[in-house]
Amino acid sequence: MTPQELVTCALDAQKNAYAPYSGFRVGAALLTKQGKVYLGCNIENKSFSPTVCAERVALFSAISAGETDFTALAVVGCDKDGVYKHFCTPCGVCRQVLSEFCAPGFQVIFGDDTLDCEAHTLQELLPLAFDL
Ligand code: THU
Repeated sequence: MTPQELVTCALDAQKNAYAPYSGFRVGAALLTKQGKVYLGCNIENKSFSPTVCAERVALFSAISAGETDFTALAVVGCDKDGVYKHFCTPCGVCRQVLSEFCAPGFQVIFGDDTLDCEAHTLQELLPLAFDL
């Protein structure tokens, strides 16, 4: 699967974003080594702190389905006016959670609605990750 195809999946996932408080809608698509794609969107809450990022929704969906081998994740985000961020990058918490389940060479792809994208390894995004 190409990075652009994975970004297209993230744009699909974004359609289900529940973001009435921030207005910022995020979609994520996680690719397994077997070529299966798990989708996630951000899900906010009026109490704010229970809000979950799109990346973690995709990852936890895959983990709960029994997946263990991951290749790449694409993420997209736009504001309440539909203007896409160039690019939407995963927050620190999501980077840490990804590092629990994904190898340092795992590809994180930032994209937007033009399908322009940029890839970085998890190691680049989270150098010196916490480990026990
Ligand atoms: N958000 C994500 O879904 N992923 C990130 O990596 C950063 C932030 C969401 C959380 C919240 O619903 C909105 O974006 C604004 O912070």
